Amino acid sequence: MPVVAVLGANGLIGHALALDLMRRGFGMRGYARRFTPTQRQALGTAAQESPMPSLPQAALAKLLEEADLVVNTIGVLQGADSNQVHREFASRLACVCAASGKLLVHLSIPGQEQDDRTLFSRSKREGEQAIIASGAPYVILRPGFVIAPAAYGGSALIRALAVLPLAQPRLRHAPDDESLFVVIRDGIKGTEMPGGYALDTRETWQLAAYVRSLGRMAPEKIAGDPKHGQELYATKGRCAQCHINGGVGGSLGPELTEIGARRSAAHLRAAVLDPASTLPEDFLQLRAVTKDGQTITGVRLNEDTFSIQVRDLSGGIHSFQKADLKELQRDTGKSPMPSFRGTLSTSEVDDLVAYLVSLRGNQ
Ligand code: HEC
Repeated sequence: MPVVAVLGANGLIGHALALDLMRRGFGMRGYARRFTPTQRQALGTAAQESPMPSLPQAALAKLLEEADLVVNTIGVLQGADSNQVHREFASRLACVCAASGKLLVHLSIPGQEQDDRTLFSRSKREGEQAIIASGAPYVILRPGFVIAPAAYGGSALIRALAVLPLAQPRLRHAPDDESLFVVIRDGIKGTEMPGGYALDTRETWQLAAYVRSLGRMAPEKIAGDPKHGQELYATKGRCAQCHINGGVGGSLGPELTEIGARRSAAHLRAAVLDPASTLPEDFLQLRAVTKDGQTITGVRLNEDTFSIQVRDLSGGIHSFQKADLKELQRDTGKSPMPSFRGTLSTSEVDDLVAYLVSLRGNQ
């Protein structure tokens, strides 16, 4: 099997591609400036940290020596680095591939030269031209819209639009057009709404106008009875065991005080019926067994190379040196929240969702 070097293996496309190549049995090296602990764990020894875009050509050639094929997914959404990364680096990489005869697969953007209005698209286009002129064997791919299990950048925006209940008359972070423009440009600090899209001013206004038009649609119709939902929350659901709501409850799960302002009814229904389907990106359930035989099941709060901090199911916080553990089992993709499919009837789920939708903090 040929060895494939994936550059940018911490990004949306690069990471999904690196995992897929590994699964299919290719030799794979994944390069990135930095990986998250979760990514490093998934890629194992194939994960190589390197400040690749700033390496001179000779160092780049040395690093890629063993690869038969190079896939370049490195890109920056915004900022002064655009020329450095999209044009200068792509051009050095192309020279390395031209000299060694390696196939270069390069991820670029859709559109044509006359559409280029941003530094992002201009520098991407110039990178392509450098590759074409280099004489290296190449394939340039121009995906328009990319979705993958994780969400970053542009796809995170689409996700945010899908999950946020934007179809309401008044947006709490954006009561008027100017503030909506700022939200789309900069994101909202401390929330999952990211900022920093490669949109120019006109495109940002267009998107703001689209979002505003959603607010003129009739609000989502919710079938259930929120009063009865509130009762179920406290009784049959025992939701307060794990969730804080209005200052009361356990903290294993996320706070729900304002959940109705952040999540659509469809998302809330999915969270109740199929909790694993709504797991946040960096969420990890795990089971730790200490050398003296104690077993702790809980949720990861923090982790570095040598230690890990865990919140157990009853809210207690533990910190372990990894060397002191006999076993550390990671239940990736699992949620400690039980599914209420079967426990609650269809109309009870409707009531509960209606109650959750009504939770909007002190608004
Ligand atoms: C044993 C603990 C536990 C119980 C009981 C529990 N949850 Fe959860 N819940 C969690 C955890 C942990 C998460 C985060 C992981 C996930 O999304 O599955 C979560 C996630 C959620 C989310 C998604 C939040 C978001 O930001 O997307 C909602 C909504 C939710 N729970 C509602 C409920 C309701 C309503 C009940 C009661 C019917 C309930 N939970 C009972 C632990 C629990």
